[in-house]
Order: sequence, then C-alpha cells, then structure tokens
Amino acid sequence: MSRALLGLAVLGAIGCTPAAEDSGVTYYRDVRPILDKNCARCHTDNGIAPSFDDPAIAQAEAGTMQAYTESGYMPPPAPDSDCRPYQDDDTYVLTDADKATLGAWAQAGAPLGDEADAPAPFAPRTIAPFDVEMHAAAPFTPSFDADGNDYRCFELDLENDEALFVTGFEALVDNPRIVHHIVVFDSNGQSLGDGTGDPHEGFDCGGFGEDGWDFVTGWAPGGGPVTFPEGMGLKLAKGTQLVLQMHYFDSFDGADLEQDQSGYALTTVTDVDRRVYQIPVGTYDFVIPAGDPSYESSLVLPWEYGDYDILGVFPHMHTRGSGFNFELAHADASTTCLVDMNDWDFHNQVTALFDEPALLTDGDAVSLTCTWDNSDSTEDVAWGEGTQDEMCFGFTYASKAE
Ligand code: HEC
Repeated sequence: MSRALLGLAVLGAIGCTPAAEDSGVTYYRDVRPILDKNCARCHTDNGIAPSFDDPAIAQAEAGTMQAYTESGYMPPPAPDSDCRPYQDDDTYVLTDADKATLGAWAQAGAPLGDEADAPAPFAPRTIAPFDVEMHAAAPFTPSFDADGNDYRCFELDLENDEALFVTGFEALVDNPRIVHHIVVFDSNGQSLGDGTGDPHEGFDCGGFGEDGWDFVTGWAPGGGPVTFPEGMGLKLAKGTQLVLQMHYFDSFDGADLEQDQSGYALTTVTDVDRRVYQIPVGTYDFVIPAGDPSYESSLVLPWEYGDYDILGVFPHMHTRGSGFNFELAHADASTTCLVDMNDWDFHNQVTALFDEPALLTDGDAVSLTCTWDNSDSTEDVAWGEGTQDEMCFGFTYASKAE
C-alpha cells in the first residue's frame, strides 16, 4: 500500500491523528538524505551556511526551507538538466518530489523520527588516489574588503620534467567555512606575484585572473572532481606553473581569524588517444547600461576548425549575471543545448560536465547569450577583471583525436 493510502487508512481508523503522523515524513529517514545530497555542500558543520546536520537547526529552519525551495532561491541556481544531463546534476538540482517532501515535513511540524531509519550516508564522488597533490606554501589568513571578499592567488609548481596529460582535477579545500570558490589557471610561464613576497605564499590578484593566464579548472562548494572520459587528457607543458585563485568570503563572525591552505589534486598520464582543449568562448564587447534590469549580449561564432567533442562547460559571469544560454546551431537549423541558465548565482559556479559529449563540426555555429541585471546601479558596467566589472565566458572542454 502506498504511504498516502496508508495515511488515509490510519486517519479513517483513528479519526483524528496529529499532522506529524499523517504525512509520515521524518528528518532521519526522508529529509536528511535530501539535505545531504543537495544542501550539505554548503550547509554543513564546516560549510558556508547554517548546518542542517544538526537536527535542531534543521527543525528550526524547516519553514524557511520550504519557502526557499518552493521559490527556487535554494538550492542556488545551477545549469538546468532539462538542457542536457550533467554529471552530478542530481546534487545541484532539487527534484519536484524532493521539494514536496521538504514541504510535507515542514507542514507536519518537522518530526525527527528514528535515527535508526536513516539510509546509508551520501558519499560525494572522488578521483582519489591522486598522483599529484599541491597546496599553497603556507596557511593564509584573509583580509576581507567592505563587501566581504578577498581574492588571493598562490603559485603551484607542478615540477613536471616532461609534458603530461591531466585526466582529472579535484579541489583540496582546507577550510570550507571561508572558501567561496577556486579557479585554477595556467600562467603559461609568466612570472607571478607583485614582487613583494614569495608567490607560493600568496599574492593579490583580481576577480578573474590576469592577461595571459589560461583557465584550467574551477570549483565552487560541493563541486565534484572534473574527470574526462577514458583515454582523454588536458596537456600541461613541462614545468607548468599553475595559479590557484582563492575567493575567500566573510560569512560569519570571526571569519577574519580563520586560516586556509587549500590546494588541488590531479590524476595524470603521459599519453592519450584524444587531447582535451580548453576553448574560451566569450565576448568582451558589451556595455551594460546603468539601471537596465535585463541587458543581453550575444556572440555567434561560425565553426570552421574541425570536429571536436564538447565534454563540458564552466560558465562564468560576475555578480550582475542573470542568464547564461549556450548552444550549438547546426547547418540543418537544429540546435544542441549546452548550458541553459535563466538564473545565475556568482557564488555557485560549477563545471557542467556532460553525460554524453556534444559533437561540434564545421558549418555549426557556437552561440552564447549572457544576460545581466544592472537595475540597482547608477553606472554602466563593461568587461573587466574586477568583481564589480562583468564577464561572459563559457570555458569549454572539448576533445580532438591526437
Ligand atoms: C551553493 C551553496 C548552497 C547550497 C547548495 C544550498 N544553500 Fe542554502 N544557503 C546558502 C547560503 C550562502 C545561505 C546564507 C545566505 C542567504 O540566505 O542567501 C543559505 C541560506 C539558507 C537558508 C536560510 C538560513 C538562515 O540563515 O536562516 C535556508 C533555509 C536554506 N539556505 C536552505 C537550503 C536548502 C533546503 C538547500 C538544499 C535543498 C540549500 N539551502 C542549498 C548556500 C547554499
């Protein structure tokens, strides 16, 4: 018998049952697994938002959880899996059934139930064992600006005496309470730092890298490892110097006393069948008028560079971003959706890795439209590296036969 029918039968038999028992939804059995899968990447004991691992906090927040998940405010927007299936999309997007469970639980008075009914805990994906692990050279204590941000870059030397291919990346986040996101760049051998100290111990850097650096990979809370399909890897030259760009964020009292020494882990091989390229698709050519609530800029790039398999995209805009729509337009007028976000959250930047690659071929056009909301500003906003400036990039992983 289904749970709903059982509930009705119980009601019929007893006549008047407290609401909590009607729905039968409990924290331990039904709610905690949803919170672990979709919320704990931020809402956990060492996370950037109140921990729902604590049953008392989860109970106190039940009404707000219902309101925030129904309105779509939580979990923060992520690439929409109606566009295409992504790796880990079940952890980014809350299903209607899960929303209904959270709602029913709040309505029932947020009963805890029996801890013994809890299913096996959710295990996030890892690519361990790694063959390269790198960390910032020393623990760092951020100093936040008026908006609560500190961007700090650290040089990470791979010390590889021959070129290698990276098959997977995983962020090694030391202090998740203050790490809001991480971006890794290849400095392409440029000297790093501002000359005042050891760049391995950190140097100031803008909101998104410097001229001449190439985007390599990125992470936001809960972002799983980036892995390429079997036999594929991203080439890093001999003696590669990576830049670990940390975005620290001040979200609680005492955050300015915390330390962090994050890093990155890689899995590598010396040979691949298909090489992975990072193709930055984007536009610099926009000025978002002051006060405009919905300003769009599009880029259409006719493709004539041969066949590639697109494996995934790291969408990137800054805080005024509101929509990110990225697709392939084929010669026969059909389209392939790559990423479709009609909502954007700067604090939730994840790499959308496709379950199935999308074929890009000559005669196609790559088409990207970014939308921004500049309604609360009295100034025009243009492209720039500062967080107060804007960007519109789809950092695209694509592979090609070696
Ligand atoms: C990517 C990070 C992230 C994820 C994932 C996330 N949240 Fe949040 N959440 C936050 C942050 C940061 C705040 C505090 C700032 C705010 O309210 O915007 C917050 C605040 C909240 C609050 C208000 C807490 C308070 O201050 O009283 C609720 C309730 C909430 N989230 C529910 C959820 C639920 C339910 C999920 C999962 C279905 C979820 N969130 C997933 C980051 C996240």
